Amino acid sequence: MGLSCEVSQWDSDEPVPRTELLKGVQGAHGLLCLLSDKIDAEVLDAAGPNLKVISTMSVGFDHLALDEIKKRGIRIGYTPDVLTDATAELTVALLLATARRLPEGVEEVKNGGWSSWKPLWLCGYGLMGSTVGVVGLGRIGMAIAQRLLPFGVNRLLYSGRTAKPRAAEVKGEFVPLDTLVSESDFIVVSCSLTPETQGLCDKAFFSKMKKTAVFINSSRGAVVNQEDLYEALSSGQIAAAGLDVTTPEPLPTNHPLLTLKNCVVLPHIGSATYSTRGVMSALTAQNLLGGLQDSDMPSELRF
Ligand code: NDP
Ligand code: DGY
Repeated sequence: MGLSCEVSQWDSDEPVPRTELLKGVQGAHGLLCLLSDKIDAEVLDAAGPNLKVISTMSVGFDHLALDEIKKRGIRIGYTPDVLTDATAELTVALLLATARRLPEGVEEVKNGGWSSWKPLWLCGYGLMGSTVGVVGLGRIGMAIAQRLLPFGVNRLLYSGRTAKPRAAEVKGEFVPLDTLVSESDFIVVSCSLTPETQGLCDKAFFSKMKKTAVFINSSRGAVVNQEDLYEALSSGQIAAAGLDVTTPEPLPTNHPLLTLKNCVVLPHIGSATYSTRGVMSALTAQNLLGGLQDSDMPSELRF
């Protein structure tokens, strides 16, 4: 026999306002949420004791108060793997766009700045023969490394809490963060946001980077201290940065980072392909149904 559910839905692509969430969740057995919904003690209390599963349409789960959720014995579903390829692809696109200054070039074509072919105009940095450092060689970090290698990368360094057996597939060298930062020509951040990684990329981090190095972040904005990044970019301490994620999101249009030509900012579109978002939403629904029926969830977070 099928499961029959009463569904209360926020029927919009815009995030549900907090007051509506707090109202709508009352008495619910399951909650399907997005990464823009902060699920904390207030929401859990508003839901009450019925709540037994939270299913987020994301692989990141830093918006969920794990300790509060665990305390209440609530299960969590999330969407690992299904967005790995799309996110890795976007990260590579962002790296190339940033390193080869594509947004600047497009702008110059439109604004008449393109006067003629000039030997040093809009020069950037290439991957051939370079050293790439991946901070967090997880599912997405590994997929990024696999995509970058064919561009002729010479060395692939990675840092994290533990060495990864799969790193051999990309000839990855497990190194201390400091070594990665000072030896890389491209640094790609693809770790999860945790208390340990919050603010990891700060003044000390940027000051160890090569002046010609390019910094890319597609993990979470809070891994980066944006004031320190602004300082590093505007002073020429590092060459350029590409960010798919910021703090806050959206980044205010008057944010100092947006005044810099050597900073490319995207609106958190790592997983944004039609097919990936389709698969993510189906998996999110299946996780929710599994939790509601006290049965297996296709992707349950073990925490
Ligand atoms: P994984 O769990 O597979 O990878 C996360 C990696 O982070 C692990 O390898 C882990 O290493 C590493 N990590 C944890 N702590 C540290 C640390 N202190 N220093 C360095 N590395 C660390 O997750 P995914 O690859 O699937 O996703 C990673 C993140 O990407 C998500 O959490 C999410 O925030 C973000 N994301 C962003 C998207 C976008 O649209 N821009 C799309 C999808 C995801 P270890 O195992 O050693 O702890
Ligand atoms: C995630 O899943 O964590 C991304 O940030 C969006 O797909």
